[in-house]
Amino acid sequence: MNKFVLGAVLLMVSLAGDRLVDGHGMLWDPAGRQSLWRFEEFKKYDPEPNFTDNQLFCGGFQHQWETQGGKCGICGDPFNEPSPRAHEGGGLYGKGIIAKTYKSGSKVNITINLTAAHLGYFELKLCPHNNPLVPATQECLDQYPLQLVDGSGSRFVPPNRAAHYVLHVQLPQGVTCQQCVLQWHYNTGNSWGTDPDGSSGMGRGAQEVFRSCADIQIV
Ligand SMILES: *[C@@H]1O[C@H](CO)[C@@H](O)[C@H](O)[C@H]1NC(C)=O
Ligand SMILES: *[C@@H]1O[C@H](CO)[C@@H](O)[C@H](O)[C@H]1NC(C)=O
Ligand SMILES: *[C@@H]1O[C@H](CO)[C@@H](O)[C@H](O)[C@H]1NC(C)=O
Repeated sequence: MNKFVLGAVLLMVSLAGDRLVDGHGMLWDPAGRQSLWRFEEFKKYDPEPNFTDNQLFCGGFQHQWETQGGKCGICGDPFNEPSPRAHEGGGLYGKGIIAKTYKSGSKVNITINLTAAHLGYFELKLCPHNNPLVPATQECLDQYPLQLVDGSGSRFVPPNRAAHYVLHVQLPQGVTCQQCVLQWHYNTGNSWGTDPDGSSGMGRGAQEVFRSCADIQIV
């Protein structure tokens, strides 16, 4: 092997290695649909266990960006799965099990179990859906990006380490629901890329994405 080929092979190995240690995590409190099985209080509903519940990442970076044009299911399933996708309403994990009940307009603490960190940001969105066995839509979720109580907006930038992160957020005033979908969106930031406006840098452009959905109630 000449030096150039060897260099290219080593670069590919290091890129592949990087992907393997990309961020991983899930909605923990309230529990995401894929993680309900981990908590004693939900055992009575016999939730389907997903043992790789920290890896709802749109089928992986390559699948999302090279075959699906960047698209992802709202709950982190591969975009090309037939509807309802596994973690959406009516899917294997989308049985409408209410993970938590909150008071309308209150300030609440949402916990993310980040099992591997990789820069980027979290965002939480809410859809008053009231139709647990039917998939919600991103348009509905986009109506209510939850604002951080500290006034910094809706994006939470986690420190670069695995931990439980508690996001203090404001629930929208006047919104109630028998069943709302809470979406956690983790746009990681450890790849070099280019934004639509042409600016390049770490964390810009196409990044690995993780998502979780939880069913909650707001009274
Ligand atoms: C758990 O979720 C991942 C990510 O969506 C998926 O690839 C996997 O098939 C699921 N596991 C089971 C047992 O359904
Ligand atoms: C959220 O957590 C903070 C401490 O980090 C606590 O003071 C507050 O009471 C909690 N709020 C709720 C609604 O549990
Ligand atoms: C976070 O999730 C992992 C599973 O990926 C679990 O093993 C771990 O116990 C969770 N963290 C805590 C503090 O519960």
